[in-house]
Amino acid sequence: MRILFYTGKGGVGKTSVAAATALCCARRGYRTIVLSTDAAHSLGDSLGIDLQAEPIKIEENLWAQEVNTLYELEQNWGEVQRYLTDLLAWQGVETIAQGELSVIPGTEELFSLLQIKRHYDEGKFDVLVVDAAPTGETLRLLSLPDIVNWWIVRFLPFVRGALKVVRPVVRRMSDVPIANDDVINSAEEAIDALTDVRRILTKRDVCSARIVLNLEKMVIREAQRSLTYLNLFGYAVDAVIVNRVLPKEVNGHFANWRTLQQEYEPLVDQTFSPLPTLKAPHFTQEVVGLELLEQLGKELYGDQDPTKFFYEGPVQRVERTPEGFLLIIPLPFVSEEQVHLAQKSDELLISVGWHRHRILLPQSLARMQASDAFFENDEMHIVFTGLPVAEKTVS
Ligand SMILES: Nc1ncnc2c1ncn2[C@@H]1O[C@H](COP(=O)(O)OP(=O)(O)OP(=O)(O)O)[C@@H](O)[C@H]1O
Ligand SMILES: [Mg+2]
Repeated sequence: MRILFYTGKGGVGKTSVAAATALCCARRGYRTIVLSTDAAHSLGDSLGIDLQAEPIKIEENLWAQEVNTLYELEQNWGEVQRYLTDLLAWQGVETIAQGELSVIPGTEELFSLLQIKRHYDEGKFDVLVVDAAPTGETLRLLSLPDIVNWWIVRFLPFVRGALKVVRPVVRRMSDVPIANDDVINSAEEAIDALTDVRRILTKRDVCSARIVLNLEKMVIREAQRSLTYLNLFGYAVDAVIVNRVLPKEVNGHFANWRTLQQEYEPLVDQTFSPLPTLKAPHFTQEVVGLELLEQLGKELYGDQDPTKFFYEGPVQRVERTPEGFLLIIPLPFVSEEQVHLAQKSDELLISVGWHRHRILLPQSLARMQASDAFFENDEMHIVFTGLPVAEKTVS
């Protein structure tokens, strides 16, 4: 399966581009599904069809789906939901309707990610196009497996062990609802699934992320930031989509906008190079319905196959040096001062702004120390030196 993931600032045209891409893929003969992970769900409006929690067929080779948190909760997480309701009721939150549990932060993201895994595992489609939420939320979504995994690896074994001992005692002493094995099993399943999702989305021969932008300063800045973060988390970005380019002949009110866009256009090409930019003009009307989406697809891809790998760039890699090893991570648009590094045995914690990524170091590096870091050609080089810990003890 090929996964195409569209992200970008609010309103730049992610949904339209995702829908247009899916249509283009379907008409090329790929069995394609387009999935909206955005709670705002405008995918249905874009396609001009009411979508549902399960995939529905739009035309030959094309399916679409809007992930619905409530539906997913009821279908697959009844046990967990009942437990949470009990727990909330015990705390005095009697009035909470079952459905309101879906407002717990992260739930929407969680279910969207699990749908990606479901389609990947089922293998019914050749192409999965993901219409993601605006950048910030998407990055949160993509780093979710990281965060959840970190907590769980540390606490779940403890919780499980502790519950066996504590449960009978607590039962006698208080009426606090205790999670039963089903609940814990469900939680464990979800965590394994999240780990799988992360593995799928970082497979460079499967998933490409594409950043959608418009020719405006703030939008471009945000696109740069998200490229940094996507690299940080190891997701492959293979193209930048420049949407809503004003035609040369505009005048009057929009002439000034056109001048600004003309200044930014070459800048975007340079800044994001070597990533290719795919462009679409500002249409004379809203891009809704299959006919206009088809046109948008043609503008973006021309004769090219949207599933091709538009760029296969450098990836995180390890190189040997006389003193030890170098861990090299492509991180464009950041300077040394913005990055913070910390190492704790086999884990390297990299922070850029608000985003943190924990890299589990390969064995060869885990036994050494990160002693220095520097930037070269938009790549962060982390220097690992020192005798492996085992050898140190021997000497
Ligand atoms: N190239 C274009 N020309 C004209 N209108 C466009 C173009 N691309 C998108 N639009 C219109 O702009 C509006 C916003 O587009 P869209 O919903 O695809 O953006 P989005 O990035 O998904 O927004 P959100 O962040 O809210 O999810 C829609 O009305 C859409 O029809
Ligand atoms: Mg959208």
